[in-house]
Amino acid sequence: MDTFELITNRRSIRRYSSQPIREEVVQKILQAGMSGPSCVNARDYAFVVTQDKAKMLEMYTACGGPAAPLKDATLAILVCGDLNRSFSMAKEYWIIDAAIAAQNMSLAAYDLGLGNVWLGVWPQDERVRNLINLFELPDNIIPHSILAMGYPEDDRDMVPLTEERKREKFEADRIHREKW
Ligand SMILES: Cc1cc2nc3c(=O)[nH]c(=O)nc-3n(C[C@H](O)[C@H](O)[C@H](O)COP(=O)(O)O)c2cc1C
Repeated sequence: MDTFELITNRRSIRRYSSQPIREEVVQKILQAGMSGPSCVNARDYAFVVTQDKAKMLEMYTACGGPAAPLKDATLAILVCGDLNRSFSMAKEYWIIDAAIAAQNMSLAAYDLGLGNVWLGVWPQDERVRNLINLFELPDNIIPHSILAMGYPEDDRDMVPLTEERKREKFEADRIHREKW
């Protein structure tokens, strides 16, 4: 898909079919995650990939109701920050680097025909703590977000947005030129 079309058509998809995802597709998504910019090129992210239904249900339990798309996802990627790699003078850049990785993976997955939704984790302490426990993460690894994915249950979820819907998303009053 053309890059601009991909970006403007992407939307969150929360219902998935049971069609399995091939490993080469998973690899491409992860490659996209590791292709974004990061502060001082720290590449201070890490990913926990699961295609195990029981584990995804545990992730849902760890995060609560808003993470319901995990209940029928066929792939979940926990995006984490790695504090051992983050920029020593401003460690919190890890949060931005992880977000970029997540967004790149979301777009790549969409391009590969996979519906997906970003599930917020950081900075909600309880979700962070629960996921650290669930995956037995080392001290330097902080859960940031989850991408729940799967081939869409309903193909209509992937049809391009109408031009009208795209126009609605463009809010001219958010833009300021030369001065506020
Ligand atoms: C930081 C962040 C956290 C989010 N958390 C959730 C979530 O927990 N559950 C959910 O269903 N969607 C979640 N979303 C998806 C948003 O609800 C969605 O992006 C927004 O409603 C806009 O819809 P769209 O993605 O279809 O354009 C999250 C998105 C972001 C960026």
